[in-house]
Amino acid sequence: MITEEDFFSRMPKIIGHRGACGLAPENTLASLRKAAEIGTRFVEIDVTVTQDSVAVIQHDNDVRRCSNGSGPILLKTLKEVQQLDAGSWFSDDFKGEKIPTLRQATDTLAELNLGLNLEIKPCSGWQIPTTEQVAKELLDYWPEDLPLLISSFNVDSLYEMGRLIPDIPRGYLTSAIPPDWEERLTDSACASLHCERYYVTEDQVKAIKKAGFRLLVYTVNDPKEAEKFLGWGVDAVITDFPDRMFAALDL
Ligand code: G3P
Ligand code: MG
Repeated sequence: MITEEDFFSRMPKIIGHRGACGLAPENTLASLRKAAEIGTRFVEIDVTVTQDSVAVIQHDNDVRRCSNGSGPILLKTLKEVQQLDAGSWFSDDFKGEKIPTLRQATDTLAELNLGLNLEIKPCSGWQIPTTEQVAKELLDYWPEDLPLLISSFNVDSLYEMGRLIPDIPRGYLTSAIPPDWEERLTDSACASLHCERYYVTEDQVKAIKKAGFRLLVYTVNDPKEAEKFLGWGVDAVITDFPDRMFAALDL
């Protein structure tokens, strides 16, 4: 695994959200390919597990919003998950696109040389088994030199990942920045704070940077807003539309 220092020295200012989810169905291999095609160098995707304990790339607990199926992914086997069409809901151009496994996503990321922010999205109550499975798979096949940062809204997942693979840098994911952010980041040994655009103020950015942490802001789709955050010292913005950022910003 590459070190925390290596990860952040290679991390660009623009990170594709769920691949490039404004341009292709989120969290699919097509979304990763689209991100790479338009020049994105790092992406964020979400990971959870199936009933038969396989790590798969999916944002919601239920497959309804992003496929032609319905019901909790945790109650479906990999075979059932792979029968779903995860592209048609977005557009006919992506008909037949599948929900990828973490293994498939990893192979595609490696092929495209895309760095990754992997967000662990456990179903509530399933945070430990989800994290254990993700860790097991990463140890098994994650390419040594491909940049990887793990983040989660779920603190149990962050701690468990820190225990299982302490070398992978971790990001503390939140909407609003908690008042005791410094204690939380220090206690969980997280290198970065990832927060939602609505809640970020310039003073907070300065304080977080001064304390030596990295700061990522999501989901920023307006280049003017991205420019503002980056000007304040935010390390990277996570966007559905990397293409807009590349067209408008002098990076
Ligand atoms: O990791 C940033 C962002 O993806 C967190 O929110 O709901 O899009 O996974 P969400
Ligand atoms: Mg996410």
